[in-house]
Amino acid sequence: MKALDGVRILDMTHVQSGPTCTQLLAWFGADVIKVERPGTGDATRGQLRDLPDVDSLYFTMLNHNKRSITLNTKHPTGQMIFTKLIEACDVLVENFAPGALDRMGFSWEKIQTINPRMVYASIKGFGPGPYEECKVYENVAQCTGGGASTTGFDDGPPTVTGAQIGDSGTGVHLALGIVTALFQRERSGKGQRVVCAMQDAVLNLCRVKLRDQQRLKHGPLTEYPQYPDGTFGDATPRSGNASGGGQPGWIVKCRGWESDPNAYIYIITQAAAFNDLALAIGRSDWVDDPEWNTPQARLPKLGQMFAEIERWTMTKSKFEVMETLNPLNVPCGPVLSMKELAKEPSLRATGTVVDVDHPTRGSYLTVGNPIKLSDSPAEVTRSPLLGEHTEEVLETVLGMTPAETVAVRSDGAV
Ligand code: COA
Repeated sequence: MKALDGVRILDMTHVQSGPTCTQLLAWFGADVIKVERPGTGDATRGQLRDLPDVDSLYFTMLNHNKRSITLNTKHPTGQMIFTKLIEACDVLVENFAPGALDRMGFSWEKIQTINPRMVYASIKGFGPGPYEECKVYENVAQCTGGGASTTGFDDGPPTVTGAQIGDSGTGVHLALGIVTALFQRERSGKGQRVVCAMQDAVLNLCRVKLRDQQRLKHGPLTEYPQYPDGTFGDATPRSGNASGGGQPGWIVKCRGWESDPNAYIYIITQAAAFNDLALAIGRSDWVDDPEWNTPQARLPKLGQMFAEIERWTMTKSKFEVMETLNPLNVPCGPVLSMKELAKEPSLRATGTVVDVDHPTRGSYLTVGNPIKLSDSPAEVTRSPLLGEHTEEVLETVLGMTPAETVAVRSDGAV
């Protein structure tokens, strides 16, 4: 048995943010029925293709464990089928441009009338306000949610991150909203509206930077590389690779950095482990030197401290540094490339990285469910082909006869 067995999701999502959410719910056991436009389907099926006429990795890696039906929700027969699907499902999830579902004729009021137990969940770029009508993609959310203004180096431009905090980050937030609404429904018997704006989700993930905005009023941010010699303006600046927490950290070079762009390691000079770190890098003099042996004394010279540490790390590979410092309780992490992560045996062993077989693509690598439930392990199954389950869903979920499914197909509704 899976945690969400018996929960049926009417999945109107596309691109990345919404599909991330419904894929998680599918891994937890929900029956996710992805509704796609006949002929084209989710636009990502054809985007960033690596193989001709084969669903892209963009699509396959975001739509595991789902069923796909094609349905024209603007066609009168399609709308009749969509109404029946709303009756038969527990959750409707969508991330269309604002108002798209209303324009199809399915307002929240109407959905509640059709199925009062329905949880109706949406992702939009912005919440109510001046930008609520805007269409939004990942990097727009990273810029408007505070990610870009606080990422990068002080002397460089705002920078977006590789982690898809706008799309996937919002999808994860929405999944929590949905299961919370389902939990409340257990007691209230009623569905509810769940909305997560991408700007809000990014800002939530940038929470510590709003913390720093308020700290600025009371003096310089002493853990930032701008301290003590640089200047602070009136907004949280970009802090390069500074840790963002109370324990100083930085990325330092390791052996081979001249030719390997990822021969680096992140080191946190946690106060409790500082003496051992000093001994390991050959600076035993720091242990008794009041200029170095307290966090307060080190703060104005973090750059100098990390340069000293780097002199040592540059003589070792990033994995040798990790092997030396981990037993000393010095928190550190090698900068791992996607190539290294793809081959990492421990990630394979836990199912976080998995091989999946696909009928037209063959075998490909994907990220499995990063959230591990002891009583509901996730098995990753391939993404559906466009409309692969149309007849199956119409007949088994909606109880239509084979003759009726033939009729709605020839009508152009599916
Ligand atoms: N049958 C009939 N029509 C369908 C359909 C179906 N099965 N599925 C989609 N459509 C229609 C929609 O109703 C909409 O029509 P409308 O403009 O008449 O209302 C149209 O297809 C296009 O949908 P839209 O969402 O506007 O797509 P887009 O490609 O123009 O915009 C986004 C894409 C992502 C920018 C936009 O959907 C958006 O801003 N979404 C919210 C934020 C978000 O999730 N962004 C991150 C994406 S990773």
